[in-house]
Amino acid sequence: MDLYNSPLFRLILVATFIFHDLCSSDEAGYYSFLKDATSGPTLSHFDYIIIGGGTAGSALAATLSQNATVLVLERGGSPYDNPAATDIGNFANTLINITDPNSWSQLFISEDGVFNTRARVLGGGTVLNAGFYSRWEDEFVAETGWVREEVEAAYEWVEKKLVFEPHIKGWQTAFIDGLLEAGVVPYNGFTYEHVHGTKVGGTIFDPDGHRHTAADLLEYANPNTIAVYLHASVHKILFTTKGNSRPKAYGVIFQDANGVFHTAELTVQDARSEVILSAGAIASPQLLMLSGVGPAAHLAAHGVNPIILDHPMVGQGMGDNPMHPVFIPSPKPVEVSLVQVVGIPNFSSYIEGGSGLSLSISLTRTFFNGVLDLLNKLKFPSQSISNLLKSLDLGLNVTTQAGVIIQKVSGPLSRGHLELRNTNPDDNPSVTFNYYQDPEDLNNCVKGLSAIINVIDSKGYSSYKYPGVNGRGLLNLILALPINLRPRHITSTSDLKQYCMDTTMTIYHYHGGCQVGNVVDNDYKVLGVDALRVIDASTFLKSPGTNPQATIMMLGRYMGQKILREREAF
Ligand SMILES: *[C@@H]1O[C@H](CO)[C@@H](O)[C@H](O)[C@H]1NC(C)=O
Ligand SMILES: *[C@@H]1O[C@H](CO)[C@@H](O)[C@H](O)[C@H]1NC(C)=O
Ligand SMILES: *[C@@H]1O[C@H](CO)[C@@H](O)[C@H](O)[C@H]1NC(C)=O
Ligand SMILES: *[C@@H]1O[C@H](CO)[C@@H](O)[C@H](O)[C@H]1NC(C)=O
Repeated sequence: MDLYNSPLFRLILVATFIFHDLCSSDEAGYYSFLKDATSGPTLSHFDYIIIGGGTAGSALAATLSQNATVLVLERGGSPYDNPAATDIGNFANTLINITDPNSWSQLFISEDGVFNTRARVLGGGTVLNAGFYSRWEDEFVAETGWVREEVEAAYEWVEKKLVFEPHIKGWQTAFIDGLLEAGVVPYNGFTYEHVHGTKVGGTIFDPDGHRHTAADLLEYANPNTIAVYLHASVHKILFTTKGNSRPKAYGVIFQDANGVFHTAELTVQDARSEVILSAGAIASPQLLMLSGVGPAAHLAAHGVNPIILDHPMVGQGMGDNPMHPVFIPSPKPVEVSLVQVVGIPNFSSYIEGGSGLSLSISLTRTFFNGVLDLLNKLKFPSQSISNLLKSLDLGLNVTTQAGVIIQKVSGPLSRGHLELRNTNPDDNPSVTFNYYQDPEDLNNCVKGLSAIINVIDSKGYSSYKYPGVNGRGLLNLILALPINLRPRHITSTSDLKQYCMDTTMTIYHYHGGCQVGNVVDNDYKVLGVDALRVIDASTFLKSPGTNPQATIMMLGRYMGQKILREREAF
């Protein structure tokens, strides 16, 4: 189908300004301690070795460096190298830029047939996301047994550095009015707290549309005690296994961009030192497996050697919150806004929206070429995508005069697993999320879609949609687009449950694989081995809050403080 001639969709091309002056200043030295891994020694020693300088890792590293030596190994590059790419207008383009092994966004396609993305850059997902900042549900404090005041202080530490109150303009105001009319009440105004009703949350975009990221938390670091290596791909965590004693992590092996291997070890004779995995929900379980900690038969089948510990739960409990967007072409101009407002109804779905998304058509084409490449490798059927490519013959960069309202199904209850495909740490493992296997997730999806329909059909929203267009009709647009590789069973929206299953997309909040209670204990220590923790979203049982970045950064800060206190008391 020709997306851009669809009468209902009515994308209006209003700007082609997006990419004009992307400049690339060489700022690998933005921080004195930020270096390319090629300049690192063959052997080095640190009190803490953190694998992954992402959303959790940056916060954790900055904190630990206050009183210990810290090495951060980041497989990607630096967001400071190309600041314009992270500005608000480039959100969609940077997310779909999967052109080469150095892109900040790495495409992966789950076995469920949903396109997904992994961050490959210092700052992690905060470099690619829609920027919305909102804390976790209050119940979490009780569940984790954490100290409330310290949780509060950890959130504030993050907020002081990189969170802003958004400026709410026309489209977002109409969206608020629509949510209230649809019964997502009360209106709670601007707050970071997770409260039922409709609220304005924080954003990591400043008033000029420049993104701030978790990498900025490294401004808090002690430059004399921290080293951050970029393009450092960790291949293995090293363990000592003397006699009958528990395996103990003592270092890691990583490869630099020239293919040279380096070893980093924990400070000699300091029993307080640790390796900490903060590589995210895909790489943390994958790296545990590649290091010999995981389901033994599965590891043996892939030739992982030595097997350190048979740990059947590594890679289990993978969850991904389904996302469903509804695009609403607008008869009048809309502001460029990513997520600023969220509706938290009394069922398990969150409703968010944005307007004026910009997309480079040439990049869209490149994205789908990348998808085709990957599919050929994985031998997926891909007819629908080939067909779309034929219709994408525009050389234009477009800004949509449209709003998009999405829902994220909370939880989710449906769970899957992760398995190795091979032993290359740079390759994606095989991931299955089993979207909508649990009927409760499906019920929440239907309730969420119904709420979106009510928002679109509300009086408050009416000036941002064409007369005669209604919410249910707009749902049809997605059915014609190659948004995923799942089988299509329906051609109309009469069966919303089937619609949810057929049109599943992701909001990139995947988690699990090293869950608390299964793979790590309540202090995030890997069960069965010493001197190794996992601190990132792979430990979550469910996605915290409406959007997890706030809590993932808080987790890094909170655990960093806790580890430093334990270190002192040792
Ligand atoms: C895409 O990513 C590559 C690799 O990081 C970068 O060189 C290029 O400038 C990016 N392109 C756009 C359009 O952002
Ligand atoms: C949930 O909210 C709807 C309106 O959005 C209301 O009609 C319903 O009574 C509420 N249900 C509960 C259990 O609070
Ligand atoms: C769209 O962006 C690409 C990438 O920066 C650029 O090469 C191209 O000239 C742009 N197209 C238009 C019509 O401005
Ligand atoms: C750092 O360590 C020293 C010596 O163990 C201790 O006196 C000090 O309180 C610690 N500071 C922090 C911030 O943990």
